[in-house]
Amino acid sequence: MSDDYFHQTDCLIIGSGAAGLTLALSIADKAQVIILSKSALKEGSTLYAQGGIAAVFDENDSIESHVQDTLIAGAYLCDEDAVRHTASNARSSMQWLINQGVPFDQITEGDGTQRFHLTKEGGHSHRRILHAADATGKAVQTTLLDKVKAHPNIRLFERFNALDLVTGDKLNDTSKQVHGAYVWNRSLEQVEVIRAKFVALATGGASKVYQYTSNPDIASGDGIAMAWRAGCRVANMEFNQFHPTSLYHEKAQNFLITEAMRGEGAYLRRPDGSRFMQDFDERGELAPRDVVARAIDFEMKRLGADCMFLDITHKDEQFVIDHFPTIYAKCLKVGIDITKEQIPVVPAAHYTCGGVMTDLAGNTDIDNLFAIGEVAYTGLHGANRMASNSLLECIVFAQGAAERILQRLEAAPEPLPIPKWDESKVTTSEENVIISHTWHELRLIMWDYVGIVRSNRRLNKAQKRIGLIKQEVDEFYADFRVSNNLLELRNLAQVAELIVASAIDRTESRGLHFNKDYPETLPSSSATILTPGTN
Ligand code: FAD
Ligand code: SIN
Repeated sequence: MSDDYFHQTDCLIIGSGAAGLTLALSIADKAQVIILSKSALKEGSTLYAQGGIAAVFDENDSIESHVQDTLIAGAYLCDEDAVRHTASNARSSMQWLINQGVPFDQITEGDGTQRFHLTKEGGHSHRRILHAADATGKAVQTTLLDKVKAHPNIRLFERFNALDLVTGDKLNDTSKQVHGAYVWNRSLEQVEVIRAKFVALATGGASKVYQYTSNPDIASGDGIAMAWRAGCRVANMEFNQFHPTSLYHEKAQNFLITEAMRGEGAYLRRPDGSRFMQDFDERGELAPRDVVARAIDFEMKRLGADCMFLDITHKDEQFVIDHFPTIYAKCLKVGIDITKEQIPVVPAAHYTCGGVMTDLAGNTDIDNLFAIGEVAYTGLHGANRMASNSLLECIVFAQGAAERILQRLEAAPEPLPIPKWDESKVTTSEENVIISHTWHELRLIMWDYVGIVRSNRRLNKAQKRIGLIKQEVDEFYADFRVSNNLLELRNLAQVAELIVASAIDRTESRGLHFNKDYPETLPSSSATILTPGTN
């Protein structure tokens, strides 16, 4: 059912990345689905994923080894059940992707048989990364999107920005259940209502809260902020992952140089050409990401250098071009031939390890509201996500959520009526410079005060300033009509507040969270859980 302002469906999926598309395809034969994407349908972190997806395919590898590597990379803060669940389901989830038509790279053995080529990344003790050259995410996104577009039960709402969830308490109902969402139709510039029996947040991460990031613009933490406002707990927000190697070049922003390049033998070098990773960790260039990013940050600050260098020139030229065609072409475009020259690299905010708390089937604290993919905290990543475990989590948990939704579909009550959005008290802002200025200010505060290395003084300063920003943004939101930038700023300010609160709560250094005032890792620790109304 749809008119200009009101739409209804069985399941509203907010987000069209790997998580959202997998959920849609896994329920659409039995349920009506609407998928929202606030930008182009294909746009999201999934599209840009390079390295690949972890799963045990090598006969010398084992699920136990995948589990142990994940626990170690996560600095022993992972939920072991979530880790075992994910590693055990990895192979069948990859088989599902293969059945959908995702073209993972294969190689031909001496006897003529074909097998998947498996690459390696930091923290993995075996070759276990399935990939499509260095553009795995593009292969996943385009394959799944084509399938979704062809499905008669799936409606795609492109350039629709969910602004808030509607739960029973907002409708004077005693149930703690979700009934739908208010969404901003960017083309018609109006707020519409989508009612649904089930809502799934698949909105991706929040790395755009930092000034420098490998993420696309959509990564503004909308799902985390919406869930928090609706009453869901969030966990481990202090663990934002910085990828060690994003390209440092004025003509190429937000471009990642995959960790798989180090997996295939690339070295990290100082500007004078010397290698340094062995000085920091015996695993060298293949230490987990938090260790490598901190080592680069340390060397840059110690030497006053603008960047460090990644060097793969010692490998055969054709090998480099065949394995890393996207990176080769992109670097060549800005004047760097990676087969002959070193690549200038710096760390950039890359992945949100924390998020909306869920169980192993993506259930949140609100009935019939699910969170899947990077928006969720499932317990898998602990204090540091191991490379290529994220796309895996998207698929495994989307399939788990699909199972639950299908089990409950028949008995699920109709969603309650939701009133039209009230615009009577707002006007159109003529001072959008306030939004753009505040955007920059917030992202800079986060980069300078809540970055790779933290201290109590910097965190307290950040908390004060973000508190003021949040108050100003809330006032602006109450007075003026919504716009994409205002909605994202409101969510970023909320997420920044949660990250800082979590970072202040943790009185140790562990994984991605390093505080100079608490440099030691405590003998035991647990997730940082924030509860709405009490924090
Ligand atoms: P996304 O793919 O980010 O999709 C989010 C969707 O939500 C988008 O459609 C967006 O429009 C929509 N959305 C957001 N907010 C709203 C809103 N308010 N209203 C409506 N729609 C909204 N992981 C790996 O495992 N292996 C890799 O090799 C790898 N490489 C990476 C390389 C890069 C450059 C980056 C940035 C990440 C990489 N990652 C990798 C991480 C991984 O890609 C992401 O964690 C994963 O793709 C997230 O998928 P998702 O479906 O949760 O969200
Ligand atoms: C990369 O290719 O280095 C990114 C892998 C990931 O984020 O999992």
